[in-house]
Amino acid sequence: MTPSWKNVREDFPILNQSVNGKPLIYLDNAATSQKPKVVIDGLASFYLKDNANVHRGLHTLSMRSTNAYEGARNRIAEFIAAESPEEIVFTRGTTESINLVAASFGGSQLKAGDVILLTEMEHHSNIVPWQLIAQKTGAKIKYVPVTADEGQLDLSSLDKLLTSEVKIFAFTHVSNTLGTINPVIELCRKAKQVGATTLIDAAQSIGHLPLSVKEIGCDFLCFSGHKMAGVTGIGVLYGKKALLNAMPPWQGGGGMIATVDFDGSTWKPSPERFEAGTPNYADAYALGLSCDYIDSLGRKAIAEHDSRLASLAYNELSKLPGIRLIGPSGARSGLVSFAFKDVHAHDIVTFADQDGIALRGGHHCNQPLMKKLGLTSTTRASFYVYNTDSEIEALVKSLNRIIKFFC
Ligand code: ALA
Repeated sequence: MTPSWKNVREDFPILNQSVNGKPLIYLDNAATSQKPKVVIDGLASFYLKDNANVHRGLHTLSMRSTNAYEGARNRIAEFIAAESPEEIVFTRGTTESINLVAASFGGSQLKAGDVILLTEMEHHSNIVPWQLIAQKTGAKIKYVPVTADEGQLDLSSLDKLLTSEVKIFAFTHVSNTLGTINPVIELCRKAKQVGATTLIDAAQSIGHLPLSVKEIGCDFLCFSGHKMAGVTGIGVLYGKKALLNAMPPWQGGGGMIATVDFDGSTWKPSPERFEAGTPNYADAYALGLSCDYIDSLGRKAIAEHDSRLASLAYNELSKLPGIRLIGPSGARSGLVSFAFKDVHAHDIVTFADQDGIALRGGHHCNQPLMKKLGLTSTTRASFYVYNTDSEIEALVKSLNRIIKFFC
C-alpha cells in the first residue's frame, strides 16, 4: 500500500462523524461516492480566486478560467485514453450523455426497421432515452437477456440478436444492481462485425476500474463525475471525433455556433457543438482534480480493493439465514445486492441506518431487471476506497439484528 492508501479515510472528512450515535459506515457508493478534501478545496479555491465565464473574455480571470476548463478536458481525455480532447463533451452526467446520443445520433441515423440493441441489465437511463427515440423514428428495441442464476449477459443470444439491422448497441460496463462486469472489449468487437455503433454506460466503472476507450474500442462512452470522487452536476460524453462531427446539435445557444443569421446558423465542431450556453466549467475543473486523486491511488489498486471487499461481503452475507444474493458468485465489481423473502429492503435500510450504516434499498432504477429476477427490490451495499473489512463485519452484525427482529 502506498502512503496515500494508508491515510485514505482522512482524505474524506465527511466520514468522520456519527450517525444515530454510531460511527458512519457509508456503503452507498454506487449511488454517489464521497468527495475527497482535495477536490472540495480545489473547487472552493477556483471560486475564490479564478472564477469568470469561459471562452468569451480576454481578461485575465476569463483566461484562467478557460485554461482550467480546457485543462480538465485534456486531463479527462488522457484519463480514458481518448485520441483528442475534442472527443470529450461535458454534460450534466451519464443520463444527459445518453440522452444526447439518443436524440442527436439516434434522431439523425435511425429509421423504421432499424434495431436499437440494449441489455436486460440496463439502468433506466439507458432504456428510456432509447424508447423516446424509438417512438419518434420507428426503430425497434431488443434486449440481450441476462442469465437468471448468475446475472451475466447471455452471449449465445447476443450472436443471434446482433444482426446487420442493429444500428446501435448500448450496454452498461458494470451493472448497478448485479455487480456484473461485462466483457466490453468482446461486445464492441462483435458489434463492429455487423457495423453497429456502440455506446457504453460507464457510470459504475469509471471510478473503479482501469478504463481505456482505445483498448475497449467503443464509439461512445458516458459517465458521471459524482460516482468517481467528483462533484455533482458534471459528466462526460466521449465520442469518436468523426461520429460527433457528423451529428447535429441537440441544444442551441451561445458557444456552439460558427455563424448566426436571421435565416439560419452554422455550427462549430465537437465539443463546442454540444455545449450550448455557459458550461459547468467549475465542476469540470473539479472533475479533473478527481481524476488526479483516483490516479494517485491507482485504478488497478482501487479495482483490487473494491473487488476484495465485495467478495468478503458476498461470502459473509451468504452465511445469513434466508438471504438471496443477486448477481455473479465469482468476479464482481464493488457491490453486493441481496434480498430476504420476509423483510422489505426499505425496512433493512431503515434499521441499518440506526446502526450508522448507509445502504440503498429499492429497484435501483432497474425495474425491468427486477421483474425478470422476480423481485420488487433489493438491498445494496456498495464499496469504495475508504471502506474497510471491519465495516463489513458491522454490516453483517446489523443484518443479524434485523433478521432476529423480523423473522
Ligand atoms: N444509478 C444510481 C444507483 O444505482 C442512482 O444508485
